[in-house]
Amino acid sequence: DGEDGYRLWLKYDLLSDQQSIKTYRKQISSIYVAGDSATTTVIRDELSHALSGLLGKQPKFVEAVGKHALVVGTPSSSADIRNADLSELKGLGKEGFVIKSLELSGKPVTLIAANTDVGALYGTFHLLRLIQTEQPLRELEIVEKPKIDVRVLNHWDDMDRHVERGFAGESIWDWHKLPDYTYPRYYDYARANASIGINGTVLNNVNANAITLTPHYLDKVEALADLFRPYGIKVYLSIKFSSPQLIGGLKTSDPLDPTVKQWWKDKVEEIYARIPDFGGFLVKANSEGQPGPGDFGRTHAEGANLLADALAPHGGVVMWRAFVYANEKNEERSKQAYSEFKPLDGKFHDNVLIQVKNGPIDFQPREPFSPLFGATPKTPMMMEFQITMEYLGFSTHLVYLGTMYEEALQSDTYAKGKGSTVAKVVDGSLFNNHISGIAGVSNIGTDRNWTGHIILQSNWYVFGRLAWDHELTTADIADEWVRMTLSNDEKVVSTVTDMMMRSREITVNYMTPLGLHHIMGVGHHYGPGPWVKDLGREDWTSVYYHKAGKDGIGFDRSPTGVNSVEQYFSPLKEEYAKAETTPEELLLWFHHLPWDYTVKSTGRDLWDELVHRYYQGAADVTAMHNQWQSLQDELDPLQYHQVDMALTIQEKEARWWRDACVTYFQTFSQRPLPKGFEKPE
Ligand code: GCU
Repeated sequence: DGEDGYRLWLKYDLLSDQQSIKTYRKQISSIYVAGDSATTTVIRDELSHALSGLLGKQPKFVEAVGKHALVVGTPSSSADIRNADLSELKGLGKEGFVIKSLELSGKPVTLIAANTDVGALYGTFHLLRLIQTEQPLRELEIVEKPKIDVRVLNHWDDMDRHVERGFAGESIWDWHKLPDYTYPRYYDYARANASIGINGTVLNNVNANAITLTPHYLDKVEALADLFRPYGIKVYLSIKFSSPQLIGGLKTSDPLDPTVKQWWKDKVEEIYARIPDFGGFLVKANSEGQPGPGDFGRTHAEGANLLADALAPHGGVVMWRAFVYANEKNEERSKQAYSEFKPLDGKFHDNVLIQVKNGPIDFQPREPFSPLFGATPKTPMMMEFQITMEYLGFSTHLVYLGTMYEEALQSDTYAKGKGSTVAKVVDGSLFNNHISGIAGVSNIGTDRNWTGHIILQSNWYVFGRLAWDHELTTADIADEWVRMTLSNDEKVVSTVTDMMMRSREITVNYMTPLGLHHIMGVGHHYGPGPWVKDLGREDWTSVYYHKAGKDGIGFDRSPTGVNSVEQYFSPLKEEYAKAETTPEELLLWFHHLPWDYTVKSTGRDLWDELVHRYYQGAADVTAMHNQWQSLQDELDPLQYHQVDMALTIQEKEARWWRDACVTYFQTFSQRPLPKGFEKPE
């Protein structure tokens, strides 16, 4: 028996420090939640549940402001808040909030105020986080609002409950039993998302099934939308571009055809009649075999605008994906999204966002940022991160992705000179876009602990926190998460955050050091497969990506090669053009280099450096495992044991990666292992 991870970071166990419990109880001697909506009910329930757990005593709910009360509300739900005339609320929009220690109607209180009930809900979760992480509630002066508008999870969930690239059980959506049968998990999903500021969910796979838009399924979607609404979560759907033909009985899905336009207009009206706050559509078109406007000789803009025009009168948006590549074009894969979308800048209607993966290939352990960030001043560029770990060891490897998200968001595009970070493109501030968005491909399934590995819950968490505020540091977010999910014990906090913060770089080392990429096993993308030679198309083989030969290793994307560096702004394009000025972590992404090339930071030759990194990565997993084992007495036994078992797998597999890659690449380098390294078995 033990903590099975179901409660995520909303565990709310009794705090261990008696003194803080006493202080918190005094500071929250009563609770007044003003207003009477589905959302204020959620706020009361959460406070009741959380504080009775954390402070060991059911809080007292009252209907008026009392001394040392916690007061939650909006200027319209509470006269006391209205009279306090909080100037901060003006710039906070619909989702922001303030938390202040102040006197309200003459009484000292802790106030959570917002312009809407959903804002107040976000403030409530923020306050609870302060208590969960044992921070003082004195002299609070917190003013928060999200930097990005649309903050969504993308579920790659099929209607039969299979989750594409899902490693934590089945889809949590039970389409068969909806709309009449719901699970507590649906509510807990909504709570968890609201607690980190996620305000939307795309329920179904980007490789979409057209039946989702039939009335039978819309009943089910409506039920979920009703359930999520009080938590500030909008529902979105992935659509199949050929739906007019597949479920509408039309002969074409040509975006310029009037009957097609009418069909989408009617379909969208049908949706909004059920779900007045429906979020909009996510579209994968003309990508990996999906239908799209290209099938009718039309552009991505013409396709996106068709849907955008149908959604616009209702306030919906289109999230049109830029993950497109087709080797028929005879252009190197990493260049294709940019080539396709950059010329369309300015052609998209106002409610279209282009959603692009962080890197130009596909969710690799490390990639440079996609050159589309910064390249389309007139088109909002939405970030798509993967939370599930398709190329990163699924749910058995411990990899905290916060550092990877941070690296991508803080990359400088130089689009408008120094300081034009990807984050500023994504949040719309660089080009003054009127809307902004960020998506995370979810790692959630029916596993008791939601994500298949307790530590990987932190990737859902950090995605939400960064989507809300990309200026938070991922180290601070890791610290919060550990305290809320595992323990406030200082040894646990420092040890686990250290493991988390180093984990991604460790994984890069044992999988794809120095800018190598896409050398995973074919199709499933698990484990090493650098030797894969033929899959019928050149851009689907591993060999294609590492290009190892007797002369060296790496992909020449410099001007002497496929010249993808030209898609970046200066000075990046000049820096990436030369090996000497390319960051070492991206060396073999951009360059094909001889085995005896000298790696600057260490002075080793390339072969030795590669071997060193593979061995270092594997050794570091063992070190992480030892760190975890040093916490056995401090952790819940079940949580301890689950992660311990997963680390055993990761340790084995890090060696598998090391030995497979070193042995394979050695057939080209024909060099001995550097001194002191044992020969892999
Ligand atoms: C990757 C992944 C697919 C997914 C695709 C996408 O290629 O392997 O399963 O459908 O990305 O993002 O559309």
